[in-house]
Amino acid sequence: MKTPTESTRPIHYLVVLIFSFLLYMNKFLQVKATTQQVLSKGFSATPDSSVSSFQSLLNDPTGNFSLGFLRVNRSQLSLVILHVSSSETIWLANTTSSIKWSKPSKLFFNGSLVLSDHHKRVIWSTQSNGDSVILLNNSNLQIQKLEEQSSSIHTVLWQSFDFPSDTLVENQNFTVQMSLVSSNGLYSMRLGDDYLGLYTYFDQDSNQIYWKHRAMEAKAEIVEGQGPIYAQISSNGFLGMYQKEQAPVDVLPFDSFQKPVSGIRRLRLESDGNVKAYYWNGLNWITDYTAISKVCELPNSCGHYGLCRPGNGCQCLDNKTEYQSGECFSPESGDLCRERLSINKGYWILRRTGVELPYKELMKFEKMGTLDECEGSCEKNCSCWGALFNNVSGYCYFIDYPINTLVGVGDENKLGYFKVRRIAEKKRNVGYAIGVGLLVGALVIFVGFALFGIYTIWRRKKRMNCGFMEDGVSPGPYSDLGSSSFRSVELCKS
Ligand SMILES: *[C@@H]1O[C@H](CO)[C@@H](O)[C@H](O)[C@H]1NC(C)=O
Ligand SMILES: *[C@@H]1O[C@H](CO)[C@@H](O)[C@H](O)[C@H]1NC(C)=O
Ligand SMILES: *[C@@H]1O[C@H](CO)[C@@H](O)[C@H](O)[C@H]1NC(C)=O
Ligand SMILES: *[C@@H]1O[C@H](CO)[C@@H](O)[C@H](O)[C@H]1NC(C)=O
Ligand SMILES: *[C@@H]1O[C@H](CO)[C@@H](O)[C@H](O)[C@H]1NC(C)=O
Ligand SMILES: *[C@@H]1O[C@H](CO)[C@@H](O)[C@H](O)[C@H]1NC(C)=O
Ligand SMILES: *[C@@H]1O[C@H](CO)[C@@H](O)[C@H](O)[C@H]1NC(C)=O
Ligand SMILES: *[C@@H]1O[C@H](CO)[C@@H](O)[C@H](O)[C@H]1NC(C)=O
Repeated sequence: MKTPTESTRPIHYLVVLIFSFLLYMNKFLQVKATTQQVLSKGFSATPDSSVSSFQSLLNDPTGNFSLGFLRVNRSQLSLVILHVSSSETIWLANTTSSIKWSKPSKLFFNGSLVLSDHHKRVIWSTQSNGDSVILLNNSNLQIQKLEEQSSSIHTVLWQSFDFPSDTLVENQNFTVQMSLVSSNGLYSMRLGDDYLGLYTYFDQDSNQIYWKHRAMEAKAEIVEGQGPIYAQISSNGFLGMYQKEQAPVDVLPFDSFQKPVSGIRRLRLESDGNVKAYYWNGLNWITDYTAISKVCELPNSCGHYGLCRPGNGCQCLDNKTEYQSGECFSPESGDLCRERLSINKGYWILRRTGVELPYKELMKFEKMGTLDECEGSCEKNCSCWGALFNNVSGYCYFIDYPINTLVGVGDENKLGYFKVRRIAEKKRNVGYAIGVGLLVGALVIFVGFALFGIYTIWRRKKRMNCGFMEDGVSPGPYSDLGSSSFRSVELCKS
């Protein structure tokens, strides 16, 4: 015979199942319901702990783009605009610090769109005083204000197009005030007076241009005093530079130049420092343009102190060090000046022939008579990390930032001189010191225990001799530490 609980168990299961289903549907519907097309004053949203990747908050009219919370590194949050079909991040709020994916973190709209962290600190804000937030069908997020006279005219107080991250989309204006920054923060793209440049960041005041596209000025010339140039991706498949809207001062054609494509176009500064343009064919992003086509011409393709050999992969500049898909020597942060590293203590010298910089055409150089002269001026100057000397032309190039990847060339007249910080050894010394410390500590503890053990045995023996074991005090090790045992020792004495 079955007990009542046994016979109702299947029903229990069913009820639980239905409940979980309802709960799930409820979540689903809630998420759908909160994805709206306009955010008004009073809007507020917190991250949902059940969402594993993206929590949509605002959609554009086509549903192609969505503004929402993106989970990064499992526990952190970014406010992003995604291309929904590909989950590609088009834009990212440039917050002052990282923010946790947890309830007290919040996005709200009070005229400004504001992101605050779990301490209620404002970590990002549009600093505007608008009426509504909308996402346009070209992925531009706008904060608009309704004009008082006419209820149909909006002024745009803030737009995400003016604050790009690493991506530029069709018809977005890229001006001299803006920069694209790669997602790892290592590279940037900026406009100059008459060119577009790519730069590597080293710190605030040192960066190096590694790619430059000067305006051809074929259709129109750049006229001084007519304002700065700006760039824009055209739906006709090119990146145009303009001074006035009518005619471009430069046309940088993509593969699909003059061929209409149905999907949207975008251009991104990649985390390897390259710039690529894509269009969406309905299923995938098709690469349409690549600024740097040869791997070895990228600014840091083999990492610090790496050597890129065209068609032959990576090596270390120091051929005694094996290249393991990372870097050969880490320069770490800090420069050679601040620490006053002398040649024997702080760094050692690495020399390699047959090497040059991938972007040497964009670097300054000095003409010098001999290799010694070139190396000597680098050695004397603590802001110099290395020098490259061309034995034939006498050109000496100074590298005043941590050494990136060099390119291997067959020419043995191209000589490289590099300073390498002695970090590995410093680390080993620290490790050694910690090891010795631990060993000494362990020894002290061991001796302590041993002495204590000897003492306890001695005391127990003494107590047994006094005949105090029967007084009800337990002989266990912990109660032995109690005051009663001390008392007993005293009693024995007396
Ligand atoms: C995205 O936009 C394109 C037009 O650019 C449109 O044809 C397409 O239907 C949209 N896709 C979605 C999912 O709405
Ligand atoms: C919106 O909230 C932020 C953060 O609390 C505050 O600094 C700002 O003044 C508010 N803006 C308006 C228009 O109330
Ligand atoms: C996007 O919006 C603009 C005007 O806001 C409109 O002219 C255009 O047809 C829209 N494009 C799509 C694909 O909906
Ligand atoms: C984000 O802000 C920092 C500090 O204001 C700035 O240096 C950096 O260039 C910004 N990043 C982007 C992608 O604009
Ligand atoms: C881009 O700049 C042009 C010319 O200055 C202007 O007409 C256009 O409205 C701008 N587009 C956007 C999206 O800001
Ligand atoms: C390592 O480099 C040095 C100096 O460039 C060269 O003389 C030596 O032959 C190289 N050794 C190997 C194993 O390639
Ligand atoms: C050291 O090098 C830096 C960068 O190359 C340069 O600006 C500076 O003038 C040099 N200092 C001396 C004393 O040569
Ligand atoms: C290049 O330097 C080497 C010494 O490293 C020297 O023997 C040779 O003559 C130099 N070549 C030229 C063309 O100056």
